[in-house]
Amino acid sequence: MTRADRDGFTTTFGALLATLGSAVGLGNIWKFPSLTGANGGAGFLVVYLAATMLVGLPVMIAETMLGRSARADAVTTFDRLAPKSQGWWKIVGWMGFAAALLIMAFYSEVAGWVYAYVFKSMTGEIATTDPKIAAVAFGGLVSDPTSSLIWQWVVLGVTGVVIAFGVSRGIEAVARRLMPLLFVLLLVLCVRSLTLTGAKQGLAFLFDPDFAKITPAVVLTALGLAFFKLSLGMGTMLTYGSYFREEQNIPATAARVMLADLSVSLLAGIAIFPAVFAFGFEPAAGPSLVFMTIPAVFTSMPGGVVFMTVFFVLTAIASVGAILSLLEVPVAILSQRYGLGRKPAAAVTIAMIAALGVPAALSQGVAANWKLFGLNPFDLFDFLSSNVLLPLGGILICLFVGWVYGLAAPERRMAAEGTPLARWTIRTVFFLIRWVAPLAIAIVLLNGLGVF
Ligand code: PHE
Repeated sequence: MTRADRDGFTTTFGALLATLGSAVGLGNIWKFPSLTGANGGAGFLVVYLAATMLVGLPVMIAETMLGRSARADAVTTFDRLAPKSQGWWKIVGWMGFAAALLIMAFYSEVAGWVYAYVFKSMTGEIATTDPKIAAVAFGGLVSDPTSSLIWQWVVLGVTGVVIAFGVSRGIEAVARRLMPLLFVLLLVLCVRSLTLTGAKQGLAFLFDPDFAKITPAVVLTALGLAFFKLSLGMGTMLTYGSYFREEQNIPATAARVMLADLSVSLLAGIAIFPAVFAFGFEPAAGPSLVFMTIPAVFTSMPGGVVFMTVFFVLTAIASVGAILSLLEVPVAILSQRYGLGRKPAAAVTIAMIAALGVPAALSQGVAANWKLFGLNPFDLFDFLSSNVLLPLGGILICLFVGWVYGLAAPERRMAAEGTPLARWTIRTVFFLIRWVAPLAIAIVLLNGLGVF
């Protein structure tokens, strides 16, 4: 695509919604609660909030600004904006390409579990508050190689069909209309969960921090989650920024998306943890936590089976926006740099994900012992992307904006001529981008990986 025929978001509000569609997904409903539970609760939440505001938000602004300035894919952007750098900065874009494939390899599997749970909700198989029965239902699904692979392929197939028929825009529009409904269902879940006997303990777990549990590895996980949640450090926001209009207020858009995304995650947490303690689930259960606890909460309310089915349908739909935005990184790179059409580029990308997805899909079963650094393929892909590639990409993006490229024209103008508040905001953000974010990420990364 040339610059002139590049598609873009036609309205400022549309751009905001698409960005939100990328951010909100399985990360809120599945990853946030699992990690919060596995890493001790409130203390982790505090670190995650700090990471989101002090690092996530500035990185999001920096990354989106880059895309809007270059109007190109994640690799080409760095060539365009730093023509004298002999192409070294391009590596950031290729790291994003790799991260997108790694994330999709396990994300598509988790989305597959959600699809499967739509059907399991309808048959009533998972309508139980008994941790043992719930564990058997989940274990039976994920340990079976055939069903794991098939559900993953269904997800990839649906994604392919959405792209092939050129209905991504339409589907995203539908998804957006349905998201308020997911929000409402989460609210209902919260009310039910909070009124269960024993709910208090769950609230304390989520909101009363015990900082003794915060190790360097936990801090890195919280930072990785902040990146994953806001789709940062791998070129998604950069690519979306390339479709933004010149007058889009990027700091305001980023702040809104961050706040909305946080509220969905917190609601999911409040829906889950009281129930975890009320029914005797294990908060540190990991990836299975949500798939056992959410059905339990629904089961304990009237009409539970219907609401449960609707909930999983909506969660599946919410994952579409995130999946399309993940695919957009490789698709934009392949189509812009290698002249592939968007559809062939998507087909190539999906084929690569399907290949990488096999070991991820089998990780709770036959591949459970295929370990590298003590992690099965599913956990390894997650760790490599969230805890290594995304933070590393974040550092490089901050250094690029802070020290090589600088602010984009509209932000420079805002810093010089805007209202006092706008000037102050831009200067603070730029200070965070130059100093605070890259240093903080570097320290957390090195410390969390045990380098020092
Ligand atoms: N933010 C998405 C979620 O929380 C996942 C995602 C990560 C999407 C990285 C794009 C890029 O579900």
